[in-house]
Amino acid sequence: MFTEGQLYSPVTEHEDGTVEVHLADTHPGRDDAGYLRRRGEIAGVALAWDREHEPVPTIAYTDDEHAVWSRVSRELAPLHERLAHSEFLIAKERLALPTDHVPQLAEVTERLMPLSGWSYVCAPGLVPLRDFYADLGSRTFNSTQYLRHGSEPLYTPEPDIIHEVIGHANQLASPRFAAITEAAGQASLRLATDEAMKLVADVFWFSIEFGVMYEGEDLKAYGAGILSSYGEIQEFAHMEIRDLDLADMGTLNYDITAYQPVLFAARSLGHLEDVVGDFFTTVDDDSAARLRAEAERRGLLPMSPA
Ligand SMILES: [Fe+2]
Repeated sequence: MFTEGQLYSPVTEHEDGTVEVHLADTHPGRDDAGYLRRRGEIAGVALAWDREHEPVPTIAYTDDEHAVWSRVSRELAPLHERLAHSEFLIAKERLALPTDHVPQLAEVTERLMPLSGWSYVCAPGLVPLRDFYADLGSRTFNSTQYLRHGSEPLYTPEPDIIHEVIGHANQLASPRFAAITEAAGQASLRLATDEAMKLVADVFWFSIEFGVMYEGEDLKAYGAGILSSYGEIQEFAHMEIRDLDLADMGTLNYDITAYQPVLFAARSLGHLEDVVGDFFTTVDDDSAARLRAEAERRGLLPMSPA
């Protein structure tokens, strides 16, 4: 099921310079002192990074971390072949990420730049929404660098480098998916209200993160959240599949820590560009109120009191 949450663990920098990552009680690495120390180390590298003056820092990954990356790459490959949309598969083949070791973010950038002009930078964990989207607007993706806990390589309760790179970088290697993502980022730069930003993030969630799309008769996945998750990729076809619908996508409540019971399917990549791409290109500060009124009129939402 969609057990992979999208919640980043909070990161604290202590006065003595140590960095602590606060894992949820149910996190498989919660009681592993070595893992907790490692998470603090890796988050600390991103926190200490001087973005203006230094190249994106590298991480000296351990054999165990490389093994987690290899295992997940190997397990996802046949699932991608069977269940990912061909636009993603072609992009993945062109990006040709290593499968035997964790790539450095600089290596991801080196491969991605000639394909679609995107670069990867490091983040310790959650990036404030507006900063994350502003960077998307200049084709820059904020990525974590840590790996999930080795005891459960096919599960992660938070987005790790496997999600950020196997999910997002493969997708961003398609100039067409990359253009939609960039448009979402550009939208953030002209939106003043938090409500409008939330609307962009909601539509992004149901497309770039959890989008599915028909290819002929077959329903395929293109969302980074589905395609980076061993469990979710095998379940999406059994969810409630609705047509792409901005009023519905923009007003449906969802739980980011639980499986997504409703997914929105594009009829084709052109359809996705027409609906979601155009939305990101034209969304303004009044869009949320307009879509909410439409959702009420159509009975998707209860009428708000006059
Ligand atoms: Fe993501």
